[in-house]
Amino acid sequence: MDTKLLEQEINEIKDENLKDLIEKVMHATPDWYCKMPSSTSGSFHPIDELGPGGKIIHHKKVFRLADEAVERYGIKEYEYEVLKSACLIHDMPFCFYWDKEQNRYRTDPLHPFRNSFFCSKHCSDSILVSAIYYHMGRWSNYESEEAKKLSLERYKEHPVVMATQECDFYSSRRMILLLPNWY
Ligand SMILES: [Fe+2]
Repeated sequence: MDTKLLEQEINEIKDENLKDLIEKVMHATPDWYCKMPSSTSGSFHPIDELGPGGKIIHHKKVFRLADEAVERYGIKEYEYEVLKSACLIHDMPFCFYWDKEQNRYRTDPLHPFRNSFFCSKHCSDSILVSAIYYHMGRWSNYESEEAKKLSLERYKEHPVVMATQECDFYSSRRMILLLPNWY
């Protein structure tokens, strides 16, 4: 996927390792991802994310909501960049799978885990990996051997992890419409 689609957001990240990770994740994401809606069933996410390109709007919103969450969680400096990076890439690169029976793409319920393991291969920051692993909060109860090996459990309630969950949660509510000039 072309990194230009989130260029403005990437330019706000100053840490070179985090920037490098974001670019690796986006390069591993298929081009068709940027044409996807946020919800493949149409049952979740606000109305402006349900057409083609909705998924990119979602990433932009979650990224911008990080600016709201930092005050509440007292997140500063490098961890602020970790939060923004996690918010920006949390659903990439493996969000969807092709359902042969229904003849359509569907959201892969294991995407938080698949995405976090991809990141763990390119990034040594366990808080960022955990933020992606736990971004669906109580809607993901998958405990894997791989996560145990990475000891992700110990960061489950870290402020960056909680804030990532919160930003994704609010941005994906049906009734919350964030205007394009805000994100
Ligand atoms: Fe998301």
